[in-house]
Amino acid sequence: MEQDYIRIFDTTLRDGEQTPGVSLTPEEKLEIALHLDRLGVDVIEAGFPSTSKGEQKAVRDIARAGLRAQVCALARALRSDIDIALQCDVKYIHTFISTSEVQMKYALNMTPEQVIEAAVDSVQYIKDHGVICEFSPMDATRTDIEFLKRVCKAAEEAGADYINVPDTVGIMTPKSMERLIRELRAILRVPISVHCHNDFGLAVANSLTAVEAGATQVHVTVNGLGERAGNAALEEVVMGLHLLCNKKTGINTRLLYETSKLVSRLTGIPVQPNKAVVGENAFAHESGIHTKGVVAKPITFEPFDPELVGRRRKIIAGKHAGRHGIKATLEDAGFHPSEEQLREIVERVKELGDKGKTVTDADLFAIARAVIGKVHEEEVVKLAGLVVTTGLRVTPTASVRLLIDGKEYVSAETGVGPVDAAIKAIQKITSSLADVKLREYRLEALTGGSDAVAEVVIKVEDRDGNIVSARGAREDIVMASVEAMISGINKILSKKLKAS
Ligand code: KIV
Ligand code: ZN
Repeated sequence: MEQDYIRIFDTTLRDGEQTPGVSLTPEEKLEIALHLDRLGVDVIEAGFPSTSKGEQKAVRDIARAGLRAQVCALARALRSDIDIALQCDVKYIHTFISTSEVQMKYALNMTPEQVIEAAVDSVQYIKDHGVICEFSPMDATRTDIEFLKRVCKAAEEAGADYINVPDTVGIMTPKSMERLIRELRAILRVPISVHCHNDFGLAVANSLTAVEAGATQVHVTVNGLGERAGNAALEEVVMGLHLLCNKKTGINTRLLYETSKLVSRLTGIPVQPNKAVVGENAFAHESGIHTKGVVAKPITFEPFDPELVGRRRKIIAGKHAGRHGIKATLEDAGFHPSEEQLREIVERVKELGDKGKTVTDADLFAIARAVIGKVHEEEVVKLAGLVVTTGLRVTPTASVRLLIDGKEYVSAETGVGPVDAAIKAIQKITSSLADVKLREYRLEALTGGSDAVAEVVIKVEDRDGNIVSARGAREDIVMASVEAMISGINKILSKKLKAS
């Protein structure tokens, strides 16, 4: 195997399934295994067969699925566990036993000599069955270094094909990991693997350092699932190995995002938005400086092309957004606002952001439709003020102030609801200019939340039979309706002007 090739040992279906609250059916495990195989992992740790009958079925189904990846089962350093694993038809067994003083004493109740004996016996037993054997001294990183070396050497001499170094409670730093792997590398001939937990958020950093110090295999889980704070995340380790450490793996990185989505869906564990590589915000840009940069040249604020991991860049319209980002998003979606329209769209987006709203693409497009659809040149009627009152046992009332050719007009009306009252008040003021009737009214809450931007689409008709449609988009339904109505009246007036 090439010197710079690092084996990816995926334990999503074993350590990942030990994530509190996660339990997968054999069918779900098989679906994930098939996907991991397509992704290109070298080893799939399919489960811990001695835990249950369902787990045995899952491991057996995966072992028999004809995968390209090696299928491995976990077993304690006990012949009975190993027998159950063998019955699942795997050709690779990962056996482990605690070696730290605290775990030998309180978890195993065994002496160091008994631990070495059990380790050697298990490795030999696995090898006697002609199966690949990976040996883990559990809690290796809290194990007395001389004892650790003795156990690892004994396992190697007993025939272990790989020695895995578990940082079981995630207490290593890159510095201590580098030292440890170098010490073990100096005395072992077999390939060294690492298994890092993320209790201090260092699992990925420690895994990469271990590789730089001589480990050639890394245990990982999709989305960093695993006991407590989880394991080193597959997607982060792989991208770090490829792009920061100049190493190769068999992973097709373009499938990383869909793999993450699948595992999140089946395990029910959401991915945090700011998670590296697969989080929703990993390639999202909002601030004006960043969006201007990435629109001009993505490398300005992106470490690598999102397509490399099956993603697309996202420009977010929010209060930090700049014209460039919003323009790019709109153009991508087929909107081509004028400079003046773009200024109004940006202004409205920032107003919403200041009110604490996250502006989604759907919101942005609704705003754009409303602004682009307005008759800018002939804006005869303008809204100068609006007050509505409504509630239980209160007659909905609206008071509207309009500017028509620079002159202010005020009217108040009641209605069946605040929208009805506001529209009537507008009609009252504008009837001498354009006597319009509302022919259609449609309300669309676009994002589903109570703070969604509401898009109102209307059709109005004047006495001469001129019909126009207009829209409004605001986070307030009454405002969106008023905006649509005024836009409709302006359109009718503009039609009349053109006809005269
Ligand atoms: O974290 C750990 O020590 C383990 C072992 C079973 C390798 O998961
Ligand atoms: Zn673990």
